[in-house]
Amino acid sequence: MKGIILAGGRATRLRPLTKITSKQLLPVYNKPMIYYPIETLIRSGIKDILIIIAPEYAGHFLNLLGSGKEFGVRFTYEIQEEPRGLADAFIVGEHFIGNDNVTMILGDNIFDEDFSSIVQNFQGGGHVFAKEVHDPQRYGVIEFDKDNNVISIVEKPEQPQSNFAMVGLYILDNRASQFAKNVQPSARGEIEIPDVINQYLEKEELKVSTIKGIWEDAGTFDSLLRVNNYWAEKAKRNTEG
Ligand code: TTP
Repeated sequence: MKGIILAGGRATRLRPLTKITSKQLLPVYNKPMIYYPIETLIRSGIKDILIIIAPEYAGHFLNLLGSGKEFGVRFTYEIQEEPRGLADAFIVGEHFIGNDNVTMILGDNIFDEDFSSIVQNFQGGGHVFAKEVHDPQRYGVIEFDKDNNVISIVEKPEQPQSNFAMVGLYILDNRASQFAKNVQPSARGEIEIPDVINQYLEKEELKVSTIKGIWEDAGTFDSLLRVNNYWAEKAKRNTEG
């Protein structure tokens, strides 16, 4: 199993915080945001990690993270020239993925959740994760039955078919790159991840699990503040005892 962290993008919703730096380098309590997805992958047992970055800040990421030795893993870097969409991770990462399976995590998605057993036991197809939210129309919305059979995944629907968001961690086999190349850009000009995942669903090779732990997409001022507070409080609880 290989890992990809998608850490490019425009981060327009966090301007002016992101006018001179990358969103994924902003602090979340006591470390840069990208440490959280790195640690999520490492905790799941992944040791070979591709970090996809925007050209403007590539040097900053290299200075901060280096070879991965300090983390006990190996980092590889790829530049995404233009933010073409989340599904582009599997195209930019095609050579890195090779014949392996891949866990892709968004660089601004922060979890307090252990994915290790699902990552380690993954056999093929696709496995995605759902979390109940009060504002599903902001996300890719996933509908599934009581046996966790996926019924549909729709990107930012006006009329959400469930209250479950598909979170930014996806475990896929190596067809992901081919499936991403089949995807046409959406109205906003991006290749969208549900269009990749739906190709696994069409083949009845998609699984979903719900997340019990914390998940936050730290891409807005309010969610960034919430994750800062969450990790500060957790650190305080841990030192108190
Ligand atoms: P988004 O939050 O959807 O996009 P963004 O970071 O550009 O922010 P905004 O909507 O405020 O302009 O991206 C989710 C994650 O994926 C984030 O870590 C950035 C990354 N990303 C890329 O690396 N390349 C891309 O083409 C896109 C769209 C996002």
